[in-house]
Amino acid sequence: MAANWKMNLSLDEARDLLIRIKKNEIDFNKVDVLVAPPFTTLQLANELLDGTDILVAGQNMHWEEKGALTGEISALMLKEAGCSHVILGHSERRKLFFETSEIINRKVDAAIVAGLIPIVCVGETLKEREEKKTFDIIKAQLNESLEFFCEKESLPTKLILAYEPVWAIGTGKTATPEAAQEVHLFLRRWLLENFDHDTGEAIRILYGGSVKQGNIKELMFQPDIDGALIGGASLEPDSFLSIIRFYES
Ligand code: 13P
Repeated sequence: MAANWKMNLSLDEARDLLIRIKKNEIDFNKVDVLVAPPFTTLQLANELLDGTDILVAGQNMHWEEKGALTGEISALMLKEAGCSHVILGHSERRKLFFETSEIINRKVDAAIVAGLIPIVCVGETLKEREEKKTFDIIKAQLNESLEFFCEKESLPTKLILAYEPVWAIGTGKTATPEAAQEVHLFLRRWLLENFDHDTGEAIRILYGGSVKQGNIKELMFQPDIDGALIGGASLEPDSFLSIIRFYES
């Protein structure tokens, strides 16, 4: 269960939230938990979560190791701030910051080289879905965002994919579990076609888009939905904890 805080929560709010999560009894045999705070909160998150099983991720990074790149952050800097993972290719990065799949491909490669685990996001817009282009769009995003690995015919099994239909993000409209599963199965088949069987089966595929307490269980019941990337509902302790503890209900 991965929390994408986006550009939310002050340091005080973040501290309160993390302390609440930390105090809760989470069965880490049943769930992996990760939080992706803004850059300026990474150090605090890392300090507070030290000694727990909760992982910390960056929300973005540049592919270069260092240089004159005002406003950017490198994979190594994320690692130094305590990150094990990084979210790449989120639709907000693609749409609002004009990131292409080619850029994301470079970032994914740089993350792996630096020892960070990328969470690579793909997803179609409402217009693309209505025009029945969902699978074409997702296939192109996968081929282009993971081009280096496709060429090598080898993908690190720790890499994580996230299917986030753009029309379901922050809108309250969740894909039905069956509709999400249909795309997750497409992702799984794409992995199996491009990489060896064990890799295709091992890669985790998260669903993101208006995930909340009321829909997490049904989503997780689907065979190819391995977890969730949660935005709004991860900002409040009770709602995030009830999602994390989906396995109890
Ligand atoms: P919401 O859960 O707020 O719809 O956001 C989903 C998301 O974009 C997670 O990365």
